[in-house]
Amino acid sequence: MEQVQGMLRGKRIMVTGASSGIGASAARLFAAEGAAVVLMARREDRLAELAAGIRAAGGRAEAVAGDVTATADVERAVTRAVEAFGGLDGAFNNAGWGSIGPRLHETDDAVFDQIMDVNVRGVWNCLKQQLPVLIRQETGGAIVNTSSTAGQFATGAISPYVAAKHAVLGLTRAAAAEYGQHGIRINALMVGATRTDLMEDAIRAFPQLEQAAAARAVQQRLAEPVEVARAAAWLLSDQASFITGGAVPVDGGTSAV
Ligand SMILES: NC(=O)c1ccc[n+]([C@@H]2O[C@H](COP(=O)([O-])OP(=O)(O)OC[C@H]3O[C@@H](n4cnc5c(N)ncnc54)[C@H](OP(=O)(O)O)[C@@H]3O)[C@@H](O)[C@H]2O)c1
Repeated sequence: MEQVQGMLRGKRIMVTGASSGIGASAARLFAAEGAAVVLMARREDRLAELAAGIRAAGGRAEAVAGDVTATADVERAVTRAVEAFGGLDGAFNNAGWGSIGPRLHETDDAVFDQIMDVNVRGVWNCLKQQLPVLIRQETGGAIVNTSSTAGQFATGAISPYVAAKHAVLGLTRAAAAEYGQHGIRINALMVGATRTDLMEDAIRAFPQLEQAAAARAVQQRLAEPVEVARAAAWLLSDQASFITGGAVPVDGGTSAV
């Protein structure tokens, strides 16, 4: 594993959505930066493989298979961090999902519920379980939640996802305001189109999407997962000590124009 400056040395960080894409990249990067990581997602085999890879490279990783929409699963992951590593210093609440619609009036209620559940209740569940641990420790902490450019702007026929990612930003700001007094910083990443399974699935369904998404970015391309992971690592590190309640863009300039 590439051993970088150790920006997260000594920190214990939970990563959700760690079985692929941005979350998997973040898990590897955080570990390379010195963090002990607790990995959560539903696909147990992928998590186990990732955790084994991190350990083989000299890092510390625990895998907890579970669904972020289930309180008990999230509780298990937080408990594992405390049991295995002695506590928790931060979290990357990154698990999420969305699909490109039919139009709003043609979208099934079940799809709306599913998208709100994983993106909003998932982050809610994580915050509810993580914050008491951070407060109890009295050593502050940092949390990064994955929102999206869709958390600030409407794009395409993805109204439930736009609503959900706006809610993630709202939750982030509300929690940042409420827990700043405990030295806990909470930020949202406003992620632009990134080359992950989520995006590849969408491109398979709508081949024109890749070019359209790239064209929206000033940098005229999609992000690689590690470019998002680097921003999360920095926000979780002490380098970002005066940044909280932020909507931090990682979008190649999409939101600038
Ligand atoms: N790619 C983009 O262009 C883009 C742009 C803006 C924002 N985002 C956001 O970035 C985040 C990561 O997505 P990605 O692009 O890296 O896609 P991805 O490769 O599909 O990763 C999504 C991750 O979330 C996990 N996940 C989904 N539902 C879950 C659930 N109910 N419980 C636990 N884990 C769950 C998946 O694991 P399991 O299936 O194993 O559970 C997977 O690890 C998401 O919040 C997404 O909305 C992505």
